[in-house]
Amino acid sequence: MIKKQYILGLLIALLFASCSNDEKTVFINVDDNGSPVNPTPTLTLKEKAKFKIGAAVKMKDLQNEANFKNAVVKHYSQITAEYEMKMASIWTSSTAYNYTAGDYLVNCAKDNSLEVHGHTLVWYDSFPEWFKNAKYDSIAFEAKVKIYITDVVGHYKGKVKSWDVVNEVFADGGALRNETVINSLFKDPIGFYGRCFRYAKAADPDAKLFYNDYSVVIDGGKRAAIKKMVARFKANGVPIDGLGDQFHYATDTNRQTMKTGFTDLASTGLLIHISELDIKVNTGKSDSYVFNDVEQQKQSETYKYITTMYEELPQNQKFAISTWGVTDKYTWLTSFWHPKEYPLLLDADYNKKQAYQGFLDGLK
Ligand code: XIL
Repeated sequence: MIKKQYILGLLIALLFASCSNDEKTVFINVDDNGSPVNPTPTLTLKEKAKFKIGAAVKMKDLQNEANFKNAVVKHYSQITAEYEMKMASIWTSSTAYNYTAGDYLVNCAKDNSLEVHGHTLVWYDSFPEWFKNAKYDSIAFEAKVKIYITDVVGHYKGKVKSWDVVNEVFADGGALRNETVINSLFKDPIGFYGRCFRYAKAADPDAKLFYNDYSVVIDGGKRAAIKKMVARFKANGVPIDGLGDQFHYATDTNRQTMKTGFTDLASTGLLIHISELDIKVNTGKSDSYVFNDVEQQKQSETYKYITTMYEELPQNQKFAISTWGVTDKYTWLTSFWHPKEYPLLLDADYNKKQAYQGFLDGLK
């Protein structure tokens, strides 16, 4: 009896001693000779990836928040201006350009060894008001756009390594979008877009030139229209290097559809850019949504699926995966989708989410 009590007491004392020990237990890996080896350090996204990892950023966040800038520099190898290099931001009047924010971003990138992807030269949603109000005919319209592309690509020659020359030409299903004046101005809008690529190429022959759109891998009609345009461009020597699918998808986006579409897109042989990646979790737009552990896990799996899929591309078609933002603290989706949204890889305090690990696990 006494012996039993003694042993029990000893066990409790041992347990207590190990629980109350303030120092962390450190497990050291040992090699065959029993000598300690360093545990493998956790790599950041940019350290692990063999292609660029990009982020959309705003000048004000880089300037105002050290944590934001530190996160960009630590995890990413490329930046894109979220809006400051769009036409409406740069082309402030028919005789003036505002390069302040773009130049800031380019200099910040240079100082921190980041590449810059330019977004975007021609987008129906970013023609400046003064330009739309001018009511140009097709000749004057194209002449102005040519000057703009020549000047802007020339200004950033050698500094902006790649451009989304044309953004979002097709509506869901593959028809040309109605929202733009281009359809009514030009008998052959695709011909006009092709010439925009030529103007960009003339201004910086080394820049990689992209067509960018959304839902490309999940919308067969839109993808067919893009492939038809690419075939025409190739046949006519239009200098297109790559295609971007924005990848504003969600945890419930059908993965098989995504993969089939992705393979089909890759059949063009062009560079493929996952250009504005974010993964919505609050798919029902619910005010009472809680981003709990199960939801975190779902999002992480989606990210892993996407990076795994990207890695299956032929090596020479890999260009970059770029997220549309850096932290859940700032994401366009909280205004464009629902205030309760958590689509990115870092949480509002810049901690890595499970999504970060999922993204990382999918990389080779
Ligand atoms: C969005 C930006 O995130 C917003 O800050 C801005 O007000 C509107 O544009 N597709 C695109 C991007 O190609 O340019 C859009 O960016 C998001 C959808």
